[in-house]
Amino acid sequence: MAQHFAQLSDPHLTSLAGVRPRALRLKQLGGYLSWLRRRRHQHRPEVLQALQLDLQQSPPQQLLVTGDLTHIGLPQEFAEAAAWLRRLGDPARVALVPGNHDACVAAPWGDTFALWQPYMAADGDAAGADLSQYPTLRVRGELAFIGLSSAVPTPYGRASGTLGEEQRRKLAPLLDACRARGLFRVVYLHHCPAPGYERKRKALTDAAPLWALLEKHGAELVLHGHGHHNVEHTLHSAEGPVPVIGVASASAIGGGRHEPAAYNRYAVTRQDSSWALQVCTRVYSPHSGTFAQGDRSSIELQREHRT
Ligand SMILES: [Fe+2]
Ligand SMILES: [Fe+2]
Repeated sequence: MAQHFAQLSDPHLTSLAGVRPRALRLKQLGGYLSWLRRRRHQHRPEVLQALQLDLQQSPPQQLLVTGDLTHIGLPQEFAEAAAWLRRLGDPARVALVPGNHDACVAAPWGDTFALWQPYMAADGDAAGADLSQYPTLRVRGELAFIGLSSAVPTPYGRASGTLGEEQRRKLAPLLDACRARGLFRVVYLHHCPAPGYERKRKALTDAAPLWALLEKHGAELVLHGHGHHNVEHTLHSAEGPVPVIGVASASAIGGGRHEPAAYNRYAVTRQDSSWALQVCTRVYSPHSGTFAQGDRSSIELQREHRT
């Protein structure tokens, strides 16, 4: 029987109306001005509302949210995003990794990420005092969801991300253990892990070692956001090819150089010596104000099942 999950990314759902620019730090001020000029017109609440209605037609068993819920990481934005997460679903069914906008500047944990903790938590781990809790593992049936945090404060003008040595060191045995249990491993993070794909100022600084680690230890699927467009790479692991899929922003109205909002639905079925993976993109239409069927593909991942 197929197991279903979905991914959305980069909702940038908060409003900065009423924010006093003088109270902001330089990096936040840049983000505020970008919101004032462009982003508030591009990222629309009515699009997110339509996405939520579309999700409710056929609720996935797990929904992955890959970061950038806010614009400049203010405590009031974390509170607004926490309310949105509660409307989206129960923390057991919604798993979150943060994005670079959420970690715009260093801020007290209790005023910011602590408000999202139930959605960031691994199975059986409700606590978390900082982002060093990543990588996180949630197992649902035969699916292992492995969350990574690439969200770190960066200087003005940068949107890069970093996993860091400790997180990468913990990832390898986690991938091996999930493989030994015969699970379908879904790795999800905010930044694109393909080395050299993003310009340096937007890139994951340790994409190369992460890519090498995934080549060696394997995965069945890698998901990301950040670029605000639909994109696919292939990683050639020792166990076989791994699709690496990025999705557009969940709230984008589209137009000009911007892709309209999209999210991806996945169905996984275990076969004799492979996994059957179906990918279905749902795309927002500004004309109808609803999400409709976009690209569809079926991928067979040859794997020697161990259990
Ligand atoms: Fe974003
Ligand atoms: Fe981002």
